[in-house]
Amino acid sequence: MGAMATKKPDLSVDVNHDEQSPQPDEHNDSDTDASNAGAEQREAAEQHGDREDSEQPDLEHPDSEQPARPEPLEARDGSPAAALWSLNSRWRHINHGSYGAVPVFAQLRRMAYLQEAEGAPQRWFMAAPARVAQARTELAEFIGVDADSFGFVPNASAGMTASIRALGLGAGDEIIVTDHAYGAVSFSAKREARQHGAKVRTVPVELDATSDEVLAVLGKALAKKPAGLVIDSTSSVTARNFPVAALAELAQKHGVPLLVDAAHAPGVQARPAEGGAASAWVGNLHKWACGFRGTAVLVAEKKFAKNLYPLIDSWGMDEPFPGRFDDQGTMDYTPYLPLWMP
Ligand SMILES: Cc1ncc(COP(=O)(O)O)c(C=O)c1O
Repeated sequence: MGAMATKKPDLSVDVNHDEQSPQPDEHNDSDTDASNAGAEQREAAEQHGDREDSEQPDLEHPDSEQPARPEPLEARDGSPAAALWSLNSRWRHINHGSYGAVPVFAQLRRMAYLQEAEGAPQRWFMAAPARVAQARTELAEFIGVDADSFGFVPNASAGMTASIRALGLGAGDEIIVTDHAYGAVSFSAKREARQHGAKVRTVPVELDATSDEVLAVLGKALAKKPAGLVIDSTSSVTARNFPVAALAELAQKHGVPLLVDAAHAPGVQARPAEGGAASAWVGNLHKWACGFRGTAVLVAEKKFAKNLYPLIDSWGMDEPFPGRFDDQGTMDYTPYLPLWMP
């Protein structure tokens, strides 16, 4: 997921264990030469009794020391869930947390929207903001907030950048992040602070800190009345959960705006933003909710929302939040529209 790294690692894993890099024009056809070669190698290995499986857990004897392999996921009708995606079976997609993967039914739904847009561009763009507003209404239950409490943003980075801007930093202000923050979000805080003569303070939080310890360390930082506190709901590289609800209460007590990077929450938690008392909360829909990349939500508390603007100023500019997020000029709105399974 890339936080704290200076370069994104390539986490692609070749199922056939060869060292070739993926080619952009490869499709989901398991009958490529390389796949056949891999299948032949596996078959030969099986015949020689040196199959990798000899190191696999003994599922017949659950008491054996090796951990059991997870069962493949099933769709609601009991069919293999993997069949719902168009992932190339040659490559193991182990970085869903960064890029997600979109099921085929959603790809087709989006393609229908694109065809509609290309069929009558003028009609499409005139109606787009109203359709985006309607899409918010349909998504509200999933996010766990009212439709007028959130707007769509292109990704978590955009939502966090807009929220950091809304802090209205001034000279001498301090914004707090933890050392678990996503790298790109810290960059945004640093750039915004630099531009206004403010500072970013990075508070270290032990990897195995309990919720009480997190509250104690961040409580101390909050007591100094910073201009804002940025936390993760689930951090990226360190993969730990933060006690968001308790931190929101604490931040409120100190009168400090809390910005929550909840990039990983939608699709993992039910109604993830429900009851949240953060000033701003951002969740990606392309990760565990399996929407398209370029789709995230920015939930904002009413007072904070007054200063919250999309990164693209467009015709919605004078609308109150979240209406001004519904109109982003000639952007591609199709990923925001409903892609539910029929
Ligand atoms: C915790 C966290 N925040 C923010 C992001 C940024 O997401 P995006 O690149 O979609 O803006 C990620 C991406 O993996 C993340 O893990």
